[in-house]
Amino acid sequence: MILNASGCLDALEAPEVALGLDAFVTKTVTPQPREGNRPVRIAETEVGMLNSIGLENPGIDGLLSDKLPRLAELGVPLWVSVGGFAASDYAEICAALDDRAEVTTIELNLSCPNVDEAPESAAEIVAAARPETRKPLYAKLSPAATDLPETARAVQSAGADGLSLVNTMRGLALEEKTLQPRLGHELGGYSGQGLKPIALAAVYQCYRATGLPIVGMGGITSGRDALEFLAAGARAVALGTILFADPEAPGRVRRELAEELDARGLAGTEAATGLAHSRGPVHVA
Ligand SMILES: Cc1cc2nc3c(=O)[nH]c(=O)nc-3n(C[C@H](O)[C@H](O)[C@H](O)COP(=O)(O)O)c2cc1C
Repeated sequence: MILNASGCLDALEAPEVALGLDAFVTKTVTPQPREGNRPVRIAETEVGMLNSIGLENPGIDGLLSDKLPRLAELGVPLWVSVGGFAASDYAEICAALDDRAEVTTIELNLSCPNVDEAPESAAEIVAAARPETRKPLYAKLSPAATDLPETARAVQSAGADGLSLVNTMRGLALEEKTLQPRLGHELGGYSGQGLKPIALAAVYQCYRATGLPIVGMGGITSGRDALEFLAAGARAVALGTILFADPEAPGRVRRELAEELDARGLAGTEAATGLAHSRGPVHVA
């Protein structure tokens, strides 16, 4: 299963790209509309990209009244990414989404490095959201958590049905001449190929820690990358930064992944999930 990573594709602007996905994930929505951070909001680095979009979005009312009906017309299953500044924000949005048949899954963005995070822990937010909706809840975590497997276990106990791993990590890029921060917000979220080993480790550890279904993401650019995320324990993969450079990535990665599976005699993506663990339990720090 191939998804987009939240915030990396506008399905209404580029429906042909969204139609190549098994599900479309919206940009994170917050209770109120947000204009996001001041420009510059995107900077390329030698390896990967920094962004400080700052959760620009129309707010939950704008999503429900305007965007969601138009997104539903695409006919692609819809995941809504939910953010907030307190656990009650997440709970409120989950309640508002609960009876919207267009939405198959809710992803709780518990990890945006560009905004002040809710003071509650990831598990407290999941616990607040859980009773408000019957839809599957995926917890999107930061790879920067001090003890990621522990956080993953905590959100599982609080009622998460799956994990989305990983969000960006905080990074900085400086102007060559002035040595000043290139982003208006100074620090940004680092994404792209440099994130891949970190993301793979997160998937690997959380698969062992929880056994929950995982959407793996972070620097995926090819079918080979996707295969590695499956082997580490992901059941699905999401494409993020690559979509800016290659809008045809969904179809290409799908073809390449099928070839990789075929070359290894694997019947499908399920057969690949968790293969990296086949040597049996070893100590994972
Ligand atoms: C421009 C941009 C905007 C993003 N916006 C969001 C967002 O709104 N919500 C979220 O959960 N993640 C957001 N992300 C993080 C991605 O969903 C993904 O977790 C991260 O980029 C790692 O994947 P990648 O290396 O393939 O890009 C954003 C990333 C980028 C590059």
